[in-house]
Amino acid sequence: MRAGALLDLKDVLQAVRSGWWLLVTGVLVGLALAGTLSWLATPLYSSSTRLVVAVAGAPDTSAAYQGNLFSQQRINTYTPLLTGKSLAGEVIDELDLDLSPAQVAGKVSARVLPDSTMIEVTVTDTSAARAQAIAAELGRRFSDRVTELEEDVTAVRVTTVEEPEVNENPVSPGVNRNLALGAVLGLLVGLGLALLRSRLDNTVKTADDVQTLSGAGVIGTVLEDPKLDDQHVVTSRDGHSLSSESFRAIRTNLQFLNVDNPPKVIVVTSSVPGEGKSTLAVNLATALAQSGSRVILVEADLRRPRVTRYMGLVGGAGLSNVLAGTADLSEVAQPWGDGKLSVLAAGPMPPNPSELLGSEHMRSLLQVLRDEHDFVIVDTPPLLPVTDAAVLSVAADGCLITTRHGATRRDQLAEAANVLARIDAKLLGVVLNRVPQSAAIARGYGYGYGYAADPGRVPVAEPKRERGRRIGRRRHAPLDPATTTEPPGAGGMSS
Ligand SMILES: Nc1ncnc2c1ncn2[C@@H]1O[C@H](COP(=O)(O)OP(=O)(O)OP(=O)(O)O)[C@@H](O)[C@H]1O
Ligand SMILES: [Mg+2]
Repeated sequence: MRAGALLDLKDVLQAVRSGWWLLVTGVLVGLALAGTLSWLATPLYSSSTRLVVAVAGAPDTSAAYQGNLFSQQRINTYTPLLTGKSLAGEVIDELDLDLSPAQVAGKVSARVLPDSTMIEVTVTDTSAARAQAIAAELGRRFSDRVTELEEDVTAVRVTTVEEPEVNENPVSPGVNRNLALGAVLGLLVGLGLALLRSRLDNTVKTADDVQTLSGAGVIGTVLEDPKLDDQHVVTSRDGHSLSSESFRAIRTNLQFLNVDNPPKVIVVTSSVPGEGKSTLAVNLATALAQSGSRVILVEADLRRPRVTRYMGLVGGAGLSNVLAGTADLSEVAQPWGDGKLSVLAAGPMPPNPSELLGSEHMRSLLQVLRDEHDFVIVDTPPLLPVTDAAVLSVAADGCLITTRHGATRRDQLAEAANVLARIDAKLLGVVLNRVPQSAAIARGYGYGYGYAADPGRVPVAEPKRERGRRIGRRRHAPLDPATTTEPPGAGGMSS
């Protein structure tokens, strides 16, 4: 119950964070509406008079007491006269008003002050002077009427104890009150819309979403980086940009995934087109090569090859030629950077990409590449439209799915993970791509658990090639707790 309540509060906070502009717009619209209505409304003025009903000429205290009780009884009988049409008619005649008795009566309110014999009469009108005149005349007429009615019976009389005044300050509209009301209502409407928007939003946004939908953790997040549109390989040149940091963190997290049997042949895929597969593949490959590993990047998206274009390489001959036996791997693999990374271009588009990629030839090629390199990164088409990535995943050690924050639908990610589960392919983790800075701050995406390391505790150095090999040979050697850090937290980020 308590957990449910907390979860609800968390949902509300998230809805407010992502839809704060709806709240601000709601308040502004509320203020504007309240201001306009107040400005358009006709101002109303009120004037009050106080009348006392008393028994005249009581000879002693006892008689005065009796008279007071009697007045209190009488007052309830007479008060309705003040709001009735009869006195209103007399007031109209006296003041020569162009109004009906019902209209005048509608402007009057009268109340008996508690535990007293005093009546407060208030007249509200569009003119301050007319309100005062009606109140004054009404008081006089009321007094006369009571005297008439009581003449032969008792000595009950009505006296005006407070004359009505002309009050130039309008009682309506209450501009400040209206503005406050408008702001509060606007805020509530904005909040409602923000909650509705977050309820209707069926895109993947949080690490919790990813875990629930795919069954795998977030292995890294890449922020929205406009630079990636012109300069696709950020890990090589722009060593300190936020996105290059993100790709390096993904590399580190990959190495922590399965320390006993680290994945070497890694398929990079996604649910639908344009989620950042090729960008992840090139940057992960360059980041791995930078840390000293021998890496080959295979452009196995034969339908929309982008790797060579992103890396500024030629794309003429490549994978499809090697598979068709028309070229040798050594002839078409292109070195990149300082030589630790080679790139195998897609080659010409074959008529049957899925068949070619699922062929025995492809399996043996991957085996050769695996033997010659520390990592084989395979860029593929998306999982849902075509089967290319699925057939490659079976031959790989695992897959990385990249998913676009706020764009990939929840059902698409779930279905992509299902495709991999159905063919028994291993999903290593999910990269949440194009996370807007605001969402990253709001949800605390980062490289930790939100749990600071001890002071002086430094991250483990990136494994050099020699070190990587040594670890590879001594697979069961435990990591030295004094020099290692917690597993980087992007894989277990809080949402
Ligand atoms: N984190 C990011 N920030 C900004 N732009 C990005 C980011 N990641 C990818 N992009 C841009 O999105 C576009 C698509 O990226 P990319 O080609 O890597 O996607 P893809 O999944 O390989 O697409 P396809 O399905 O067509 O192969 C590119 O223009 C790329 O520069
Ligand atoms: Mg691509």
